[in-house]
Amino acid sequence: MTGLLVEGASGIATLAGGLRRGGAQGDAAVVSGGALAVACWGGVVLAAGAADDVSRQLASRGLPINAFRRFDARGGLITPGLVDAHTHLLFAGTREGEWQLRVRGAGYLEVLAAGGGILSTVAATRAASDAELLAGGRTRLAQMLANGTTTAEAKSGYGLDVTTELRLLELVGRLGREGPIELVPTFLGAHAVPAEFRDRPGAAAAAPVAAGPAGTDGSDAYVAQVVDEQLPAVVRQGIARFCDVFCEQGVFSADQSRRILRAAAGLGLGLRIHADELAPSGGAELAAELGCVSADHLAAASEEGVAALARAAEAGTPAVATLLPATSWFLGKGHFAPARRFIDAGIPVALATDLNPGTSPTLSLPLVMSIACVEMGLTPAEALAAVTINAAHSLGLGAQIGSIEPGKQADLVVWNVPTLEQIPYWLGAHLARTVIKRGVIVSERG
Ligand code: NIG
Ligand code: FE
Repeated sequence: MTGLLVEGASGIATLAGGLRRGGAQGDAAVVSGGALAVACWGGVVLAAGAADDVSRQLASRGLPINAFRRFDARGGLITPGLVDAHTHLLFAGTREGEWQLRVRGAGYLEVLAAGGGILSTVAATRAASDAELLAGGRTRLAQMLANGTTTAEAKSGYGLDVTTELRLLELVGRLGREGPIELVPTFLGAHAVPAEFRDRPGAAAAAPVAAGPAGTDGSDAYVAQVVDEQLPAVVRQGIARFCDVFCEQGVFSADQSRRILRAAAGLGLGLRIHADELAPSGGAELAAELGCVSADHLAAASEEGVAALARAAEAGTPAVATLLPATSWFLGKGHFAPARRFIDAGIPVALATDLNPGTSPTLSLPLVMSIACVEMGLTPAEALAAVTINAAHSLGLGAQIGSIEPGKQADLVVWNVPTLEQIPYWLGAHLARTVIKRGVIVSERG
């Protein structure tokens, strides 16, 4: 028996109908009224909607109802499983000390330039054993699943040398095979310039970021290492699907990011980018130029960058704007990506946690939805599309996940509330009651 029939829902937010942009961003394609059902067979959705129609479809395929396990949604809303399209899942250590420095006024990039921030996590991660990294990953994944996440992207980027970057990708691959959360591995060797490159003779080691001329901070030498050594090794390893770069003033310039992403595309990797998180750095423009599938952060994108993303969307080659409002919020700057402008400009918007120990220690997409509604003015329906179908598209998985449609993977959440508006409304609540991955119940909250 491989069937699961979920009945008794208040409604089904199917998100059917493809990538959302412009006015369609807020169309959750909700089916409600009367008896409803979702039938899953062999891990995929067979039918969803009015219970009578679903029964007829089962009958027409010769599938007897008693071949299905019947599950009562008890008046809860059903949505697609949530898709977290930007996480730094694997790391060792925590950074609450740096967070407290920031609360008292220290800048995020100042902390990094002084060898802290990302680099302190790099030191802890290099020193951690595989078992420690796996244990941390499993603990975090369990909480993500309990919050409704059924697929997550996971970046390397706390190794910054060939050995540790490969090790992180290997461990992401392992955790993905363990499941139940499906993981999409991304290589982020260009997350920061590691200490051993900054300390090279001639490098302006602890100089404040953006103070020295390009090329005096070890970044050019490190970019060459990423392109010449890390990328080929990552492609030989065959686990990463995407390459990402932290394109930001004082980290990697647009030119350096272009060098890395072009090399990655040439080797067959998909492209995504940390773009314009803190200052306009040409990241959005670069995402459009290179055909990145996702441009992330964008809290400080330039007018020209927004226009470039709008043109790419209009031309049918969109870079999804994957916004990370929990990061903006946790950085305490009171400044958020202009989500409404993106939507008005026809740019598809996704939301993700940016889970990482420095700027976004959260495992909850519903919390991210709440922040997006309050701080960026998204409607709950826009936010739901942003963590389901649009997030799926930003991972190149729009045909497999992100909506409840016949033939797509049966990844579902039954919520402890009857409407989609209540998901972000109950701030910080744990509302994902039952989580289903490929037609199997994988998490249940009492
Ligand atoms: O997306 N901005 C760069 N990377 C992460 C932060 C990583 C860290 O601080 O450890 C981000 O915010
Ligand atoms: Fe990030």
